[in-house]
Amino acid sequence: MKILMCPPDYFNVEYQINPWMNLNESIDHAKARKQWETLYQTLINCDAEVSLLKPVEGLPDMVFTANPGLLYQDSFILSHFKHAVRQNEVVHLKAWLTDAGFNIANPDDFASTPFFEGGGDGLIAGETLFAGYGFRSDKQFYEQASYLDQNKLVYCQLINPRFYHLDTCFCPINEDLALWYPGAFDEETQKRMAAKIELLDVGEEEAYHFACNAVVVNNHVILPGACPKTKTLLEKRGFEVSVCEMSEFLKAGGACKCMTLRLD
Ligand code: ARG
Repeated sequence: MKILMCPPDYFNVEYQINPWMNLNESIDHAKARKQWETLYQTLINCDAEVSLLKPVEGLPDMVFTANPGLLYQDSFILSHFKHAVRQNEVVHLKAWLTDAGFNIANPDDFASTPFFEGGGDGLIAGETLFAGYGFRSDKQFYEQASYLDQNKLVYCQLINPRFYHLDTCFCPINEDLALWYPGAFDEETQKRMAAKIELLDVGEEEAYHFACNAVVVNNHVILPGACPKTKTLLEKRGFEVSVCEMSEFLKAGGACKCMTLRLD
């Protein structure tokens, strides 16, 4: 499995675009660096191939590579970030992807499309795209994108601002199984999701520790800290679980999964 990450050289909380970000709370940068490196090393130990995007000064959220794009079938969909402060990240991802030989599905029209935040809101299990919307991405984005297979979309409306991206409350483990925090979704969405995939419930407390923001590499699941029940749940289902402490990144509203972008 190939993954793109971006080192936390300029990571910081400099603006507030989700309820986790608090300008009065400071980041321990040495700790953040260690946490990022532990995640990186854990992925390598799971045999993932990790490429690195060069961090850019002035883009404090660039460490969250899940957001500026999404690999869909054979090409990348570039994001249209809701908040201007993150929009330049797409320029850097696009340059990297073009250089690496990836096709782009939505050539240069992103300023005119509705909002979409990449792997933060678009999650794939088998052939299904779980299409998150409500806070950062717009439902219309998916409806209008001609390159999306409309028959294989499951619309997921988010209703709790703490779970503003789909990857904060839903995590496909494989084609047939996923973790979720049902409280993040409206009832209709819950039914649609349950009809498509088997769902393992994460309780409220661990959901707030971002238990659903896990990275899956084959049979291995990497969870943020303070999620022991989720760990046991996954182990009972035969998965190997590693834990990576993410306290500094939670202050920005992100954890393990947010810092990875799938490249294959
Ligand atoms: N501070 C970032 C933002 O609000 C965090 C992004 C987290 N990424 C994710 N995939 N959920 O945009």
